[in-house]
Amino acid sequence: MNRKIIMLLAIPMAIGFSSSQAADKAAKPDAKTPAATMADRSPEAVVNSKCIECHGSGKTHSPRIGDREEWTKRASKGLDGLVLGATRGHDGMPARGGRPDLTDAEFKAAIFYMFAKSVSEPVKK
Ligand code: HEC
Repeated sequence: MNRKIIMLLAIPMAIGFSSSQAADKAAKPDAKTPAATMADRSPEAVVNSKCIECHGSGKTHSPRIGDREEWTKRASKGLDGLVLGATRGHDGMPARGGRPDLTDAEFKAAIFYMFAKSVSEPVKK
């Protein structure tokens, strides 16, 4: 693993998006009702309520959650570049992932969450 990737990995980890926390929250039954998911603006709730529609399966060529190679490749342009592209939207990716109500920080946190989950818990293709 080269140094650049290690540094990229350190960012979401340092701000506390560990995958075990994510698993704990995902296991809570109240996070599954639509009202709860819209009201809960934590990164995992945002991702599980909206982004997963496309990124869960890799629909329309979206980078699939768990596809470490694809996320690492995209993040190689820097996380800011990733955030900028996703905020504007392009090629099937709606602006702000279809959640215009999110603040910049909330949207960014959702991206970091997806990225961190993909590199720390890669899923076999
Ligand atoms: C309607 C389907 C759809 C939804 C919903 C969606 N995305 Fe995407 N997303 C895509 C597609 C398709 C791409 C690939 C676009 C491309 O070719 O780079 C993408 C790409 C991305 C990228 C990579 C951008 C880049 O420049 O490489 C990020 C980050 C991202 N999405 C974050 C999110 C987040 C966060 C959410 C939820 C708030 C979300 N997406 C919801 C379809 C979706």
